Amino acid sequence: MEEVFQIFKNWLNIGLELSQGLFSVLFLLVLVVIPIAYLCDISQSRHAVRRNYPVIGRFRYFFEHIGEFFRQYFFSMDREELPFNRAQRSWVYRAAKDISNTIAFGSSRDLNKVGTVLFVNCPYPTLGEDATPVSEQIIGAGCKYPYITKSIFNISGMSYGALSKPAILALSEGSKIAGCWLNTGEGGLSKYHLQSGCDLVFQLGTAKYGVRDPFNDSISESKLMDVAANSQVRMFEIKLSQGGKPGKGGILPGAKVTAEIAKIRCIPKGKDSISPNRHPEIKNDADLLDMIAYIREVTGKPVGFKTVIGSEQWLDHLFGLICQRGKASAPDFISVDGADGGTGAAPMPLLDDMGLPLSESLPMLSNKLREYELNERVKVIASGKLITPADAAWALCLGANFIASARGFMFALGCIQALQCNKDTCPTGITTHNKKLQRGLNPKLKSIRVANYVKNIVHEIGMIAHSCGVKHPLELERHHARIVQANGLSIPLDTLYPNSKTKKFKERRNWETRPWSKKKSAPNILEDTIVNVSLKDLSEKRALARKDGNANN
Ligand SMILES: Cc1cc2nc3c(=O)[nH]c(=O)nc-3n(C[C@H](O)[C@H](O)[C@H](O)COP(=O)(O)O)c2cc1C
Repeated sequence: MEEVFQIFKNWLNIGLELSQGLFSVLFLLVLVVIPIAYLCDISQSRHAVRRNYPVIGRFRYFFEHIGEFFRQYFFSMDREELPFNRAQRSWVYRAAKDISNTIAFGSSRDLNKVGTVLFVNCPYPTLGEDATPVSEQIIGAGCKYPYITKSIFNISGMSYGALSKPAILALSEGSKIAGCWLNTGEGGLSKYHLQSGCDLVFQLGTAKYGVRDPFNDSISESKLMDVAANSQVRMFEIKLSQGGKPGKGGILPGAKVTAEIAKIRCIPKGKDSISPNRHPEIKNDADLLDMIAYIREVTGKPVGFKTVIGSEQWLDHLFGLICQRGKASAPDFISVDGADGGTGAAPMPLLDDMGLPLSESLPMLSNKLREYELNERVKVIASGKLITPADAAWALCLGANFIASARGFMFALGCIQALQCNKDTCPTGITTHNKKLQRGLNPKLKSIRVANYVKNIVHEIGMIAHSCGVKHPLELERHHARIVQANGLSIPLDTLYPNSKTKKFKERRNWETRPWSKKKSAPNILEDTIVNVSLKDLSEKRALARKDGNANN
């Protein structure tokens, strides 16, 4: 016993001597480092704070850096943070883990705040046995291969590149289990998207990744046909813009362009991947409709476009042209993204200040479709911070046929809103290609969370619908929700955004007399109109346009 005590005493002494030595070294280091830092700070002129407050001024940068991470844990209230507050994130985390999402004591939400949505409860809610499941919706009924789906909540475009391999695998597997679609985003189609056999929407970005003809930077018809030949690819989405950066193409920082991603996109490894800020061959509405017709003709599948809306004049112009060409020329769907949509990387002015949020653009789009009698023909997919049941139900009231979410699914994968998507340092492995950080993301486990999230959000959207007295979510209409105004009182959504009336066709044909279209710069749509669009015409027209473009260069 005494021997053991002696050994312990010896080790203790060694430990104490070591720490004493370490402390002396540290003390000496501090004595040397502080004067050096002091001299550096007062002799530099780049940072005013460091020059005026040498050494101590450096702590400002340190606290600013760590404050970003600590605010959400210690200082922000449940409903305070942006883009998503703790209450919203927690709802998604719990739904994804399939654990109870009930709350005790009372709501922590301020119900008098301007813009708060309140649903109109029915005195006689729909009984469980009277409720019906969401019915099938057909997108592109006139196509050779229309897409028929019951899924109202789906995964919005995020490319393999912006997201990691395990994240794409988890989303793909999760969407297969849940029966929803997964949009590829603009980075092309990878084997990870295909692995589970889920339904896919192929997004055609401005750089045409995945279907690009390397000789003219436009679409390669054979590559497009190859993608379309895959039965998992159910629809094609032409990306005009996304809410996070209207008017700017995709940005994938060089740090995230790995050898595999470079190969899929046909771009150099390690260099920033910057897509053009517009499809070079889509200059106006006529070109857009031509492109839609061309892709639909080549693929036989529904084709739509994704956009942020800035004004209703554009919609008048586009829908006017569709009416002239015939309803068949219309896109099969329009994905409307709110200006507060997410992104992997975007410049601040476009992120903060460009385009309309869904609260304005969604009712505007749905009214215009009704006005031009296109609401049956063109399905509306809404995205933009619709991550909880109430957000999604509100969008359905405003006229959406489907909801798509990107960041909701990132939370389901475990995103902690660290705001590092553009740095390849995502701590949860979702938006990084760093293998060490990806270790934390188990695709099998997270795919279950993705599927749970869909199951629970759809269940609770249904709960809201039943409380409003309708049988299923697609029966929700504007009068089922109200919105709080500046005077603290709420008004129904159908008063704020009255449903528009269908105009007579003759009246619509007069669109070219609208003041803005008289401007010289307005495209001469009547001349551009192709009434019977044929593949041959379109190929020739595109070849001519390319030639023109080259001549102009
Ligand atoms: C990491 C990330 C990558 C994205 N990549 C794309 C993309 O490739 N194409 C696209 O159209 N939108 C992209 N988006 C936008 C989303 O598809 C979606 O429109 C937007 O984030 C709004 O949905 P949310 O609020 O549910 O995130 C991306 C968003 C995020 C967060």
